[in-house]
Amino acid sequence: MKIKSVLFTPVQIGKLEIPNRFVRSATHDFMAARDGSATERQIALFENLARGETGLIITGHAYISPEGIASPYQTGAHNDDLVDGLSRITNAVHKHPARIFLQLSHAGRQTTPKICGCTPLAPSAVYESTFKVMPKAMSQEDISKVIDDFIQGSRRAKQADFDGVQLHIAHGYLLSSFISLYTNRRTDEWGGSLSNRFRIIAKIIEGIKGSLEKDFPLIVKLNSTDFLPDGLILEESIEIAQILEEKGVDGIEVSGGMAEAGKGSVWKGLLEEDKEGYFVDNASKIKGAVSIPVFGLGGIRTFSVMERIINEGKADLVSMSRPFIRDPSLVQKFHSGEIQESECISCNRCFNLRGISCADLKK
Ligand SMILES: Cc1cc2nc3c(=O)[nH]c(=O)nc-3n(C[C@H](O)[C@H](O)[C@H](O)COP(=O)(O)O)c2cc1C
Ligand code: SF4
Repeated sequence: MKIKSVLFTPVQIGKLEIPNRFVRSATHDFMAARDGSATERQIALFENLARGETGLIITGHAYISPEGIASPYQTGAHNDDLVDGLSRITNAVHKHPARIFLQLSHAGRQTTPKICGCTPLAPSAVYESTFKVMPKAMSQEDISKVIDDFIQGSRRAKQADFDGVQLHIAHGYLLSSFISLYTNRRTDEWGGSLSNRFRIIAKIIEGIKGSLEKDFPLIVKLNSTDFLPDGLILEESIEIAQILEEKGVDGIEVSGGMAEAGKGSVWKGLLEEDKEGYFVDNASKIKGAVSIPVFGLGGIRTFSVMERIINEGKADLVSMSRPFIRDPSLVQKFHSGEIQESECISCNRCFNLRGISCADLKK
């Protein structure tokens, strides 16, 4: 017999129905080929997640231009030759009820000249101390190109039969560095006021919504705080969420942190049950200000906690990353009642340049 729970009820993202409330949050898998094309390992990874009853799968961040690459073996969405490989991923997933979105990203100043073959780009020339990079302040032409690159990436996702796309506006990558006063010190139309800092994202959204079918689902992963004294704060994030909704965005996944702050998005160590969901309070505040679906995230491991997040109206969907590395059949096991919590211990040993895998399982 299957467990009955609000977690197994469908939810709408725009006009798209997601079969349940479980989201595999974007997870860079380090499994693409050197040129960013999809591999058999990725097809197997995504099909396993779909077979395991995951409602919505979000891919790892896919770079929308060669300068926007963050790491070797990252999925690419930067040229038309990649569409065939990406279609093989969506074909495998669509044998099951699961939906799959492509996360579109530009690394901005969180890469190195060795990786991107360029001087990393940023709104302003603010030194990045973890990557030891002094980025180039983007010119008007650079900004126009990035806007178009995101729009083209989204077009490729649609051609490859993804069910939607997610813009990566979190964790210090390029779009998140535009909305943060710490990294964006421009005095032109792309910096200063919140609406100026948001302008690049507005143009991307207008481009995607204008050039593709209007109903192609578009969601974002949004920083709710940078954890930096001069960085993005929750109040700004709430305002941005409202603008995103006005612009036609169909859902917001709420995250936070960036490498330089010494506090990122992937917190190490198991949390007590009442501390699970380290960005859920921020998600809840954002949910109070918008009417589109909001995704709660951050160290969520226990089924009863997930149920509570939905029942108490803090979020509409529950996102996880590491529990799905530990076990791609997580949702199926919750559904059958076989487990009540993920076995992931949040040790962070799954980051592996040769492909993500749970190191704790190999003990
Ligand atoms: C191996 C790994 C890769 C990740 N890659 C991405 C990514 O590509 N894009 C993104 O937005 N977040 C990425 N994240 C962050 C997760 O999506 C998630 O926000 C974070 O791990 C917190 O969720 P969790 O506690 O359930 O793991 C990654 C996390 C891990 C562990
Ligand atoms: S290595 Fe395994 S247990 Fe550790 S965080 Fe990754 S998935 Fe979880």
